[in-house]
Amino acid sequence: MTHTFHALPGGPLTGTLRVPGDKSISHRSIMLGAIADGVTQVTGFLEGEDALATMNAFRSMGVVMEGPDQGRVTIHGVGKHGLKAPQKNIDCGNSGTTMRLLSGLLAGQNFAVTLTGDDSLRRRPMARVTQPLAAMGAQIHAQEGGLPPLHIGATQSLQGIDYTLPVASAQVKSAVLLAGLYAMGKTAVTEPEPTRDHTERMLAAFGYPVHRAGATATVTGEGRLTGTAIEVPADISSAAFFMVGASICPGSDITLTAVGVNPTRTGIIHILTLMGADITLQNARLAGGEPVADIHVRYAPLHGIAVPEELVALAIDEFPVLFVAAANARGQTRVSGAAELRVKESDRIQVMADGLSLLGVRATPTADGMIIEGARAYGGGTINSHGDHRIAMSFAMAALCATGPITILDCANVATSFPGFDDLARQAGLRISAS
Ligand code: S3P
Repeated sequence: MTHTFHALPGGPLTGTLRVPGDKSISHRSIMLGAIADGVTQVTGFLEGEDALATMNAFRSMGVVMEGPDQGRVTIHGVGKHGLKAPQKNIDCGNSGTTMRLLSGLLAGQNFAVTLTGDDSLRRRPMARVTQPLAAMGAQIHAQEGGLPPLHIGATQSLQGIDYTLPVASAQVKSAVLLAGLYAMGKTAVTEPEPTRDHTERMLAAFGYPVHRAGATATVTGEGRLTGTAIEVPADISSAAFFMVGASICPGSDITLTAVGVNPTRTGIIHILTLMGADITLQNARLAGGEPVADIHVRYAPLHGIAVPEELVALAIDEFPVLFVAAANARGQTRVSGAAELRVKESDRIQVMADGLSLLGVRATPTADGMIIEGARAYGGGTINSHGDHRIAMSFAMAALCATGPITILDCANVATSFPGFDDLARQAGLRISAS
């Protein structure tokens, strides 16, 4: 298992790359395929540890699946009421999506279950899902402070809810909607600003009625899901590392193929373009209800910006690498309205500010963001990624423009979202090795 990355200055990044499948869509393909009637064929599935944790969870509840084999998974759906009590606690590993979406999907079952996870996940806030689910009648209990493990008791029925999300979170929205599949009457979720809508789109692809009006999505407990074919696009959150790498490293010219460009995920493209990046979309098409395109990125000098707050939720997982882009831009970049970054796989504001400062970048963390003075001249050093996959990959890209080597510790969790990252990065021109 890879624990340490060693990345040398240099580049450029060139060529045509296909990054692995979208993590959010991969999770949902298993969850909805499992409770559908009939068979679901998934292609492009992300064979990363997070999505595999979701597969294992459903296997432990009696769902038969073949694969993954080169991104193919066949799911023999058991229908909405066909899941069985697992023999053991469900281990969600490092995956917040697994825990939060499963808490909704399992809140209305007639069996009890306990959801747990690794050290990082056991520090992440769960009251945001337990509160609305309890209001629907779920017997759901977290530990002190709203932390995992989560215990969910057997329930005879849930009641629909009209819920306005206090934070912009696709995981909470999805948890409530999935519980709504098992609730009496209507379940409506209103979000304060748009977040990824893969659950709504995929429910529709499985033939489940979802009513969408403005910021509100509504389901009832009456529908059923019918097995289907799901083509998972490449993950824009994984493509983001190469988009930033190519943007900051002179001479770079890369094409990232078949990337999901759902408008609730393209904040990274908008923010980089505002900073002066040269990014074009080609071959735009639809795959299974999700927009897909090839993304062409060429080096272009970047300049600092105040990131518009309305783009934050649309790029929430891309801030670690956007901070690296900012470190390489001319002038100051300010990020605000991004307090959620503090409760991701690590405190991404503090951990990125610490790492950038160690390299010699002036990076000042704030309660809800960061102020970065673009330097375009920073050194090497040894960075602690705190077991956060996106921190590790972000500093690997930072090495392209550093004046010395960057060593990144605690990188094993890169396999949660981007297995084979170092191989693909090497192929593109990053001078990276792993040990
Ligand atoms: C995800 C939603 C986001 C994101 C996470 C995946 C999803 O979390 O950070 O990586 O698949 O719904 P929040 O909804 O908590 O912001």
